[in-house]
Amino acid sequence: MKEKINKLVDMKKKIELGGGEKRIEKQHSQGKLTARERINLLLDEGSFVEIDAFVKHRCTNFGMEKVEANADGVVTGYGTIDGRLVFVYAQDFTVLGGSLGEMHANKIVKVQQMALKMGAPLIGINDSGGARIQEGVDALSGYGKIFYNNTIASGVIPQISVILGPCAGGAVYSPALTDFIFMVDGVSRMFITGPQVIKAVTGEDVTQEELGGANTHNRVSGVAHFMDNTEEECMERIKRLLSYLPSNNLESPPVYDINDDINRVEERLNEIVPDNPNKPYDMKEIISLLADNGEFFEVQEHYAQNIITGFIRLNGKSIGVIANQPRVLAGCLDINASDKAARFIRTCDAFNIPLLNLVDVPGFLPGTDQEYGGIIRHGAKMLYAYSEATVPKVTLIIRKAYGGAYLAMCSKDLGADQVFAWPSAEIAVMGPEGAANIIFKDEIKESSNPTETRAEKIKEYRDVVANPYIAASRGFIDDVIVPSITRPRLISAFDMLESKRESNPRKKHGNMPV
Ligand code: HXC
Repeated sequence: MKEKINKLVDMKKKIELGGGEKRIEKQHSQGKLTARERINLLLDEGSFVEIDAFVKHRCTNFGMEKVEANADGVVTGYGTIDGRLVFVYAQDFTVLGGSLGEMHANKIVKVQQMALKMGAPLIGINDSGGARIQEGVDALSGYGKIFYNNTIASGVIPQISVILGPCAGGAVYSPALTDFIFMVDGVSRMFITGPQVIKAVTGEDVTQEELGGANTHNRVSGVAHFMDNTEEECMERIKRLLSYLPSNNLESPPVYDINDDINRVEERLNEIVPDNPNKPYDMKEIISLLADNGEFFEVQEHYAQNIITGFIRLNGKSIGVIANQPRVLAGCLDINASDKAARFIRTCDAFNIPLLNLVDVPGFLPGTDQEYGGIIRHGAKMLYAYSEATVPKVTLIIRKAYGGAYLAMCSKDLGADQVFAWPSAEIAVMGPEGAANIIFKDEIKESSNPTETRAEKIKEYRDVVANPYIAASRGFIDDVIVPSITRPRLISAFDMLESKRESNPRKKHGNMPV
């Protein structure tokens, strides 16, 4: 027996070395950690339990029968983060470049299915040359199975993708099917076709970093949600994200003890909105003043900054925030902002996270770029996502709420359970300037002093229509509140809504515009 035990220990030691010391050194010299180091950094100390370490590939093409690939290039298993069960896989670039073949894929599928059965989040760490070229269609089939399981698990368990190396070809589509993508500056790369293929097909010159680095996908394409400078910071951010999420769609997110006064009155909120309606202010300051301990965990911070999405806690409970940012494009909704918001709303709704909508929106961004790009179908995603969401929905109208954008930011008619407004709120079909130009066109044209008449008419329109009291008189707004007491009012509203039960008609699934 002793001999057999020693043999087992030796085998495990060898497997744990992955592609061997030389390749580990190479990985380190590129500023990257190994798959096992990454898992240990992510999980609670000593909690990782590996499964399928003995799995081997079955490929015999191109001399592969002689190639030993430890753990077949991917480390899989489970462990805990903050004491909560999670499943994890990490591709091992030191073994055949982390490339994905039949058995490598089967290992990933096994943890996908276990995570789904156990109702626990799945975190995939991707660092791979893509489909294992020697394995041909078996490798493609492996990806297909992973995509299928990603889709089946969508909306049931949180799925998180971490890109810590190359992620090429079809490999990018598994992350794209998950809820959140994390990238590290200078380490992560995602693209469908690499620079060499692009050069051959289109003649375009582009570096890997420009094409698919963390900056590109966080700022330009909107594919990724988070960007960090180091792998260590990235792992810490994943843990923070998980603290806002439930383990599955049948649970609520964890509630934390907070030491922040739930009746806190914030005088600063009474002065934050400038008297001049065209002057911007920083919506993030409002979010921080409302949140428990001022903490805001932003999602897609660098993309479509005219809309802000992220998590706060109110009285220790997770809340998803969607807020217009008057500092960027005056807070207008455009194609990218609509996509970003709609996706976030659906993520929150899937995982039982109530929504707080902070509104200061002058409308949808006008222009041919937007119309040709399909702002109609992109903007419709917000209408769809809000209408479909059954979690508690609370809307606070801070300043402008004009036209379709008023509706798209979750008005009463889209199912907001509570709508509050500050006295600075203006709810109208369009901004006073535009409205006066249309309805007082003749008076302005015929006036001896058109500029003065126009200014008078704008003021008249604002006084009559652009305030919260007409909407409140129709019941579209439940209460107009003094800004300083917003935090206690929101906490009270979400507490009241905690027992909300609402369900949409049974159907196979809706047909959201895409
Ligand atoms: C088999 C691979 C591999 C692959 C890398 N390796 N990619 N083996 N299949 N796809 C191996 C290399 O041969 C090498 O083995 C080791 O991994 C490390 O790779 P290097 O090239 O030395 O590393 P580096 O210089 O850092 O370059 C990394 C890379 C490059 C940029 C990822 O390896 C590369 O371009 N690989 C191919 C990428 C690709 O086109 N993949 C297919 C995408 S198509 P040795 O033994 O020398 O150490 C796809 C279709 C899926 O994925 C579709 C699903 C729907």
